[in-house]
Amino acid sequence: MRTIIAGVGHFVPDRKLSNKDFEEMVDTNDEWITTRTGIKERRILDKNKGTSHMAAKAAKMVLKQTQISADEIDLIIVATVTPDRPVPATAAFVQKQLNAKNCWGYDLNGGCTGFLCALATGSQFIETGRHQKVLVIGADKMSSIINYKDRTTCVLFGDAAGAVLLEPSNDDGLGVEDFILHLDGLGADYLEIPAGGSLQPASRETVAQNLHFVYQDGRTVFKHAVSGMAEVSAEIMEKNKLTNKDIKCLIPHQANLRIIDAAAKRMGLNPDQVVINISKYGNTTAATIPLAMSEAYQERKIRKGDWIVISAFGAGFTWGSLLLKWAI
Ligand code: COA
Repeated sequence: MRTIIAGVGHFVPDRKLSNKDFEEMVDTNDEWITTRTGIKERRILDKNKGTSHMAAKAAKMVLKQTQISADEIDLIIVATVTPDRPVPATAAFVQKQLNAKNCWGYDLNGGCTGFLCALATGSQFIETGRHQKVLVIGADKMSSIINYKDRTTCVLFGDAAGAVLLEPSNDDGLGVEDFILHLDGLGADYLEIPAGGSLQPASRETVAQNLHFVYQDGRTVFKHAVSGMAEVSAEIMEKNKLTNKDIKCLIPHQANLRIIDAAAKRMGLNPDQVVINISKYGNTTAATIPLAMSEAYQERKIRKGDWIVISAFGAGFTWGSLLLKWAI
């Protein structure tokens, strides 16, 4: 039994925050942000809504597209670093909003590689024959964990969600072919939220010291992201004996245009073989890949039978790639 992506959807909030807007907030400018990252604007969710709001909207788009009812879903996996609440899992809030009565579910924290980890995990439930319809969602409200006074992080991130429906297929040629995933805890201190967990629970002091916001050593993360994402993207192609001519496109995690370019170059891909939407949304963490995938599908840039490589790098460090043949 193989796993295919049977539907893909996304949601982005209406409110935009442009590079110009940041010029009023911190010591930065449009030119710096554009040349260093490729980002022009990002979306920001209303203060009174949580990640599950976006996740459920993306999932509803998938249900509409695939014409299945919420009751048919067996399992909901939500990849996120910004759960609605620490407990319970955001999957529970998504289940409630979808009114999906016959499923179980859980959250998965794989940082910016979260969707890739969730896709690899979800596909195993299909391949074993245990489940028929698995919703895999990547969703993050990054605006809830960003310090808008810290120019080194605040310009990078935005809010969004993307979702796919996984189903079994007997067609040998289609669906998930392979994946490679890595985890290296030596990277933990370079990209983190220092407090709010069991090691350093929330206190007046942690709040006063801004320890509940994302902290990143950008230069170190950049260096590891460039080599990690480029190598693993090329590795999956070579391991499966595919060349740059066989690949229809790379759908990379969107953290920085320069990281994406390095991966594309290592794979020998042309610019038109890379799906890029970072200028519109910035880094939406677990949402970047399903969001880019959904837009590419809507724009008919990917079609049935196309070989697609997905790759990501994020907190942990965690990184990886997944190869699939598009099935719809
Ligand atoms: N506007 C203007 N200047 C800024 C700035 C901003 N928003 N943010 C940082 N700077 C300054 C820095 O303070 C530094 O100044 P200094 O040299 O006087 O100390 C200078 O710009 C260069 O900073 P540096 O960190 O070397 O820039 P960079 O080229 O590495 O780009 C990032 C910074 C964050 C864009 C880049 O490091 C990056 O993309 N990192 C990885 C992000 C990533 O993949 N994260 C993973 C999440 S999955």
